[in-house]
Amino acid sequence: MEFQQEFEKAKGFFKEKGFIIEDDNLKAILASRKEKIPVLAVGPTGSGKTEFFQLYAEFLQGAYEYQSLNGSITIHDLTQERIIGNNGKFEERDMILARWLRKAQTKVSILQFDEVNAAKPETLLALHPVMDIKAELFLPFTQEVLKVNKENAVLVMSCNEGDEYAGINAMNVAFQNRYIKVHFPYLQGDELSQMLSSKTGIEMGSAKKIVATWEKYMASRDPDQPVVGIRMLMYWCNLSKHMGLKSAGKYTFASLIARDEEDLQSIILGDFFVNLPD
Ligand SMILES: Nc1ncnc2c1ncn2[C@@H]1O[C@H](COP(=O)(O)OP(=O)(O)OP(=O)(O)O)[C@@H](O)[C@H]1O
Ligand SMILES: [Mg+2]
Repeated sequence: MEFQQEFEKAKGFFKEKGFIIEDDNLKAILASRKEKIPVLAVGPTGSGKTEFFQLYAEFLQGAYEYQSLNGSITIHDLTQERIIGNNGKFEERDMILARWLRKAQTKVSILQFDEVNAAKPETLLALHPVMDIKAELFLPFTQEVLKVNKENAVLVMSCNEGDEYAGINAMNVAFQNRYIKVHFPYLQGDELSQMLSSKTGIEMGSAKKIVATWEKYMASRDPDQPVVGIRMLMYWCNLSKHMGLKSAGKYTFASLIARDEEDLQSIILGDFFVNLPD
């Protein structure tokens, strides 16, 4: 399919699913697949990175595997393990990289590595041969070499940016040179209100009030105050189906940003909530 045609098709698909993504970001992600370059999606918590790639897998009609690369994961956890089977004999079991590559022999297969900025440096280094021209994975127990079928094997990664993950390992430059980076910003304004309203079923008027409160906070937030992500706004919307907007906001937005109970009370009585109905 011509690239432009595929782009239009993808654009329609995400629109129908209610997922909002900038045209250029979508183009870059589709183009990276054509050119067989991994993608890293970077954005704050709840900016849609996980949902996007799940939908992307659905769009490509491919298999989808997800793995967080938190600091305890080694390359061995990702390739193959050996367990003792029912008959007392050793059995080899494919782990996520092996599963991803085996599926890619016959169909499109997407692997999402999440939290890559929290990964052990040696785990990332061990991924280089899979990502590179060498394009293969060695399975230690069965002594197999799995070739990466580049037509079908799609590697995508994601992580949060900035102060949310302060203090973790910096990704080494060699790794940083092995993907293209796509920023996932938070939706804003009416676009966000519309998304919240259609996904949670609350009225547009209420969604707009929630978004206005959130935008006021995010614009005035000190760097040491917590980010309130879209997931929390969805919790707020969902609770508000059963209780007032203000009460629902107390247990979601306000309790996240409050340092303690006293602070919580002053937030509820303060500027942020002044325009919200009970
Ligand atoms: N651009 C968007 N279009 C539609 N829905 C969105 C968008 N951004 C976020 N959402 C909604 O926000 C929620 C959180 O999204 P998701 O879990 O994909 O975020 P994330 O970036 O993976 O967050 P985290 O870094 O915490 O894992 C989802 O329910 C998703 O539907
Ligand atoms: Mg996620």
